[in-house]
Amino acid sequence: MVDALDIAALDAVLADTPFAGKLRHFPTIPSTNFLAMQDAESGAAHGSVYLADEQTAGRGRGDHDWHSEAGSGIYLSVLLRPAVAPADVLWLSLAAGLAVHSAIQQVTTLEPDLRWPNDLLFGTRKFCGILTELNAEVTRVRHVVIGIGINVHQGAFRGELRDSATSLRMESGRDWPRQEIVAALLQSLHRETIALTSSVTAAKAAAEIPERVETISSWIRGKRVVVDEAESFSGVTEGLDPRGFLLVRTSDGLRTVLSGGVREAKSNSFR
Ligand code: BTN
Repeated sequence: MVDALDIAALDAVLADTPFAGKLRHFPTIPSTNFLAMQDAESGAAHGSVYLADEQTAGRGRGDHDWHSEAGSGIYLSVLLRPAVAPADVLWLSLAAGLAVHSAIQQVTTLEPDLRWPNDLLFGTRKFCGILTELNAEVTRVRHVVIGIGINVHQGAFRGELRDSATSLRMESGRDWPRQEIVAALLQSLHRETIALTSSVTAAKAAAEIPERVETISSWIRGKRVVVDEAESFSGVTEGLDPRGFLLVRTSDGLRTVLSGGVREAKSNSFR
């Protein structure tokens, strides 16, 4: 289906945000995250947004690709230059998941699940992934790029994605306009980043995130998971630690997930 983005209209809707006047749209591009990180090195402004109709080399977390079929999804990256400590960037990344959740709920009334740190799923199938990339010194963030991919119009997935991916269309039986989702998402992301980066509100906003995530996620407490780190282990999730990392109770004690991902355990075995 034809579902064009109207960048001028988006710009108008975002007039009260740092994204206004900084939206760049590409029919096709290798990766919006790659371009945003590259532009950031050349001095691109806080609030720059990169939107693509298609990515030919979409990047996922770890070594994964992000399948970015033309016109079927939302592929966007936001460049931020936040005055936060590098250790607090995880809060921004978790908040991006909350922002997508809120935008999807607002536009479609669907209720996605959130898998730590910020995958959005329906049941066991993922429809949104977020890749947050960081350029920092130990005590100073130079820039952060939050890249968000949302499957919107796909009718089916093939190959290795067949049983693990879904789209808004596959879940609801109808198409949703990318324009409305992008507008709601950038407004929601703006609210989250303002709260987490203003020196007056940041501590409180960060402290509220674990409970907010737990409210909409079945993964944060009581879920049997496998963690694929250098050596994989399994256990039952037991909340977030004070920095926002996921805690997993294993037969060896409480462990912190540092790798950035968990999957559902199929058996009862602990390792
Ligand atoms: C994940 O592995 O779950 C993260 C996927 C992130 C995909 C988005 S699409 C827009 C942006 N540009 C990229 O190359 N990746 C992110």
